[in-house]
Amino acid sequence: MQKIAIYPGSFDPVTNGHLDIVKRGLDIFDRIIVAILTNPGKAFLFTLEERLDMLHQSLQEIPNVEIDTFDGLLMDYAAQRNACGILRGLRAMSDFEYEFQMALMNRRLNREIQTVFLMTGLKWIYTSSSIIKQAAQFGGNIEGMVPPLVEEKLKQRYAQNTTAK
Ligand code: PNS
Repeated sequence: MQKIAIYPGSFDPVTNGHLDIVKRGLDIFDRIIVAILTNPGKAFLFTLEERLDMLHQSLQEIPNVEIDTFDGLLMDYAAQRNACGILRGLRAMSDFEYEFQMALMNRRLNREIQTVFLMTGLKWIYTSSSIIKQAAQFGGNIEGMVPPLVEEKLKQRYAQNTTAK
C-alpha cells in the first residue's frame, strides 16, 4: 500500500525551504499531498488561487506530488485522503512549541496518523514566508530563497502594494 503524507500549510508564498521538505519527504513517503488550508479569516498576501498556482508551477517537475486545499480539521482531511503521515518542517527553536502543540493535538484527534518532522536544511533554518515577504516589501534581495516565479510575483505584488482578500 502507498504511504501517503499530507504536507499542510498556508504557503503564502511557497519558499525554497518548503520545496526542500517536499523533496526530502519523498525519500520517506511514496506520495505527498501539499495541502493549503482554506482559511478566509486570515489575511494573506496572495489569494488561494495564486498560492495554488505558485505551488503547481514550483512542483510541476517533481513526481508523486499532488496539490490540494482543505478546510476544517487537518486530521479529518488526512484520514479522508488515506494518509498515514503529516509532514512538517522544523526550523529554529522558535517553531518548536507551536509545532509540538499542534502535533500533540493532532495525535489526540487521530492516533493512527503520525506527524513526521524533517529538520529544515541549514540554508533555510532562519527563513520563513513572513520574513521573505518583509524583505521583498522593502526591495531586499530574496534571490535563491524562493523559486524565481515566486520572486517575480512578490516584486509585482509589492509594486502594486495590495493585499489578497
Ligand atoms: O503554514 P502554517 O500556517 O504554519 O500551517 C498551519 C496549519 C495549516 C498546518 C494548521 O493551522 C492546521 O492544520 N490547521 C487546520 C485546523 C486543525 O486541524 N487544527 C487542529 C490542530 S492544532
